[in-house]
Amino acid sequence: LNNGLARTPQMGWNSWNFFACNINETVIKETADALISTGLAKLGYVYVNIDDCWCSIRDLKGQLVPDSKTFPSGIKALADYVHGKGLKLGIYSDAGAFTCQVRPGSLFHEKDDAELFASWFIKYHRNKWALKLVGHSLHCPIPGKGVDYLKYDNCFNLGIKPKERYPPMRDALNETGRTIFYAICEWGVDDPALWADKVGNSWRTTDDINDSWASMTTIADLNDKWASYAGPGGWNDPDMLEVGNGGMTYHEYRAHFSIWALMKAPLLIGCDVRNMTAETIEILTNEEVIAVNQGEVHPLSVGLLGAWGVFHFVEGRKVYSSGTDGCLQVWAGPLSGHRIVVAFWNRCSKAATITAGWDALGLESSTSVSVRDLWQHKDVVEDAVASFGARVDAHDCQIFVFTVHSAYHSEI
Ligand code: GLA
Repeated sequence: LNNGLARTPQMGWNSWNFFACNINETVIKETADALISTGLAKLGYVYVNIDDCWCSIRDLKGQLVPDSKTFPSGIKALADYVHGKGLKLGIYSDAGAFTCQVRPGSLFHEKDDAELFASWFIKYHRNKWALKLVGHSLHCPIPGKGVDYLKYDNCFNLGIKPKERYPPMRDALNETGRTIFYAICEWGVDDPALWADKVGNSWRTTDDINDSWASMTTIADLNDKWASYAGPGGWNDPDMLEVGNGGMTYHEYRAHFSIWALMKAPLLIGCDVRNMTAETIEILTNEEVIAVNQGEVHPLSVGLLGAWGVFHFVEGRKVYSSGTDGCLQVWAGPLSGHRIVVAFWNRCSKAATITAGWDALGLESSTSVSVRDLWQHKDVVEDAVASFGARVDAHDCQIFVFTVHSAYHSEI
């Protein structure tokens, strides 16, 4: 969606994967505090996204009402708190009659609800004189520069096509005068990659993730199919991160994070950031892996990489597999400035050597490449030619940046 947002995939936290319906304003505030104190916010995790269950009813005036037991101070107070920390608040609703947890949905209420969300996100002008001058009451927002977020789900959709239900909320958000990140969550049912780039800033490509190796690997493959459709303004969303929730090993979470970064997926943390182990922090704060996800790929380099025959678009993808059922995999994608990101993902049950031949990456075999390992934070090879291989533990993923030396494309 061409609203100026999502030049790179969104980063932040969402309540659903760990808390499900057990959320309240204290959890959200403490999460905002923890994003700051752990240093995650500084690395780019700035959206604090409240998922389902914040809303209890739609009142007689037709306005959504936050649950008075769990959000007694209201969402506006929470938005102010989160904004006060330099973070952004995200809210959740549904393009149907109800949300998935059977709270009120926004279908046919798009305008009212968008206005309500926008009104919470606004920083009201503190100067009363300025307020008088522009003749606004407190209910009339002054559009600010800040940006916030709506995740828009797909339950109780009355059988109406997503293509009909999602644009009205885009238009309603646009009419508020506030630039709001619009995350489409129709679970990939109607091939959103084919149409949602004009509607939202990201679109889920699959059903919900759960905290297991089976779910994570299946989703990676399903999302991979749509790699050519992602780019600045609109990203494929293979769902939120499970890193830190306990259902996978350290190596499996490292693989999850590496591949999500390479696929230019939203990096939305889904664990309890108030209580993270050192391993979880190590994974989520790997700046070199984050840079793979957030580095802008110059269109020119994609074009030229395209000329190499492999990278026609910015999202990295699976480029080679071998072993039983293709369980030894090479994933790769373009980066800026003569660089490629390459991941070796061992999905087999035993350690193995994975090798990337230059042909799989679209490089001439004589091309010389230096290799940096983003988990070891080390330059591992200065001058690889024709291929590069490494031993990878079962279910682990090593991720590298290849810098291409040879002047075989001096025009880049
Ligand atoms: C759907 C979405 C999830 C989550 C839940 C909340 O299943 O896909 O991401 O938002 O609803 O009920």
